[in-house]
Amino acid sequence: MSQPKKVLAISGSTRQDSSNHNLIKAIADLFINELEISIFESIANLPHFNPDDNNENVSSQVLDFRKQINDADGVLICTPEYAHGVPGILKNAIDWTVSTNDFSHKPTVLITASTDGRFGHTALLETLKVIEAENIEQLQLLISFVRTKINENKITDEKTLEEIKQLFNNFIKTIDSNPNT
Ligand SMILES: Cc1cc2nc3c(=O)[nH]c(=O)nc-3n(C[C@H](O)[C@H](O)[C@H](O)COP(=O)(O)O)c2cc1C
Repeated sequence: MSQPKKVLAISGSTRQDSSNHNLIKAIADLFINELEISIFESIANLPHFNPDDNNENVSSQVLDFRKQINDADGVLICTPEYAHGVPGILKNAIDWTVSTNDFSHKPTVLITASTDGRFGHTALLETLKVIEAENIEQLQLLISFVRTKINENKITDEKTLEEIKQLFNNFIKTIDSNPNT
């Protein structure tokens, strides 16, 4: 059996008892033999994006974030939608990766898990496409009414569970066929 793939999980929610955090934990349990998922815990410590500090005088938090993406075989983004958009904290983090191409050809899963989530999902998918996240069109899932579909760290909705299994099998295939990993 091959080594578990290293996956960096980035959550768009910093809320205690977040559904998105619970979902990441549920996915980590489901794929415990295939994926080694670590959560990027410092998203709230990243400075506000400023192009002046993007290439020189880059903060250590930003350098660490970029390194964690580069060291991972793949990235999992799990996020709610806020006011029909992408949570500012997540968009801010992604903006720090644009000019350094950290997502370029990096196998990436996008899950929007929210009450509805359609608008934020579409916007973030477009951002991930433009920064060339690998196979992102296939590796995305919108989970609406998330709070009725997971509890603590278990996915209770059968259809969602099947969708997650299929999504992550595709993710693993994408990682396996990626020449950069
Ligand atoms: C400020 C704010 C705005 C929100 N706006 C939306 C929205 O536009 N669409 C939506 O689907 N849910 C919206 N929600 C509800 C979130 O989807 C819901 O709270 C979700 O569970 C948050 O994810 P979390 O549990 O991982 O924190 C909003 C919540 C907050 C706090």
